[in-house]
Amino acid sequence: MDPLENIDGERFDAVFSEVVRDRALHALEGGQVLFFPRLAFPLGTDERPFLDPRCSDGRAKNISYDASSGQLKGTALTGHERERLQAMVARFAQSARTLVEGLLPDYAPHLRPGRTSYRPVEAKERPSSYRKDDSRLHVDAFPSRPNGGQRILRVFSNVNPDGRGRVWRLGEPFETCARRFLPTIRPLLPGQSWLLAACGLTAGRRSAYDHYMLALHNAMKADDYFQQHCPQYEVTFPAGTTWMVFTDQVPHAAMAGQYLFEQTFHVPVQGLREPARAPLSVLERLLQRPLIAARDQKGSIRAS
Ligand code: SIN
Ligand code: FE
Repeated sequence: MDPLENIDGERFDAVFSEVVRDRALHALEGGQVLFFPRLAFPLGTDERPFLDPRCSDGRAKNISYDASSGQLKGTALTGHERERLQAMVARFAQSARTLVEGLLPDYAPHLRPGRTSYRPVEAKERPSSYRKDDSRLHVDAFPSRPNGGQRILRVFSNVNPDGRGRVWRLGEPFETCARRFLPTIRPLLPGQSWLLAACGLTAGRRSAYDHYMLALHNAMKADDYFQQHCPQYEVTFPAGTTWMVFTDQVPHAAMAGQYLFEQTFHVPVQGLREPARAPLSVLERLLQRPLIAARDQKGSIRAS
């Protein structure tokens, strides 16, 4: 399988034919990256000064924006500059949403936009802990924000002004990866999800699904032999391009690059065309038990 599926289109509000929309949906749910080689996120002249790592506060690598609360975090900028930075990130959030709704209209009624990030810091700079090291192949899972089985769909645009690509590695299919690591993962302990929430370590209860996804994320990142020797592709996303992928399903690692936008969307499993291909369904099939209790459901299959 080719890891990338090319989609033509030069605008975030492009109109896609039904054939292209079907091809995109099928490829995305099957674990391919939708790659838009001609789709650039253009910056205005007044936004170009933000192409500077000093926009970040030096603590967080990413500047993150929550459209629902209007909160911008991780920047050292203040006053008018901060407002303009926020407007730029919010503009990306809106563009990414327009693209997803136009290309994947089946998802539109279910789509829940999450955070938007702007990444002005060189990706090669490694964090101290291996769990935070996104240059190690992993599937995405959030330690403090259980998502109860919802999918993590992300849209990325490389806006590097010097023509530098964003270099990723992409790993083997989700099921192969899950089969490799599941035997090493212990189940969630009784009372563990209650305790994590009671201590304020998670926002809401961590479901068994969240537990397995996080354990898979950690086990992949911790395994040096796997990192080096598992089947993988290196892919470079050139400056001026956009791509979209279910990062909870597709093992990925960011190796190099600077100046990237990213928008996260949550999609409930029942909003998918083929729910059986979702990580939740794959894990439930492999473990032969349900992984979302009724109280933890956030639009999982059984919520419909
Ligand atoms: C990641 O999602 O793991 C990192 C992607 C990137 O920053 O290129
Ligand atoms: Fe990731």
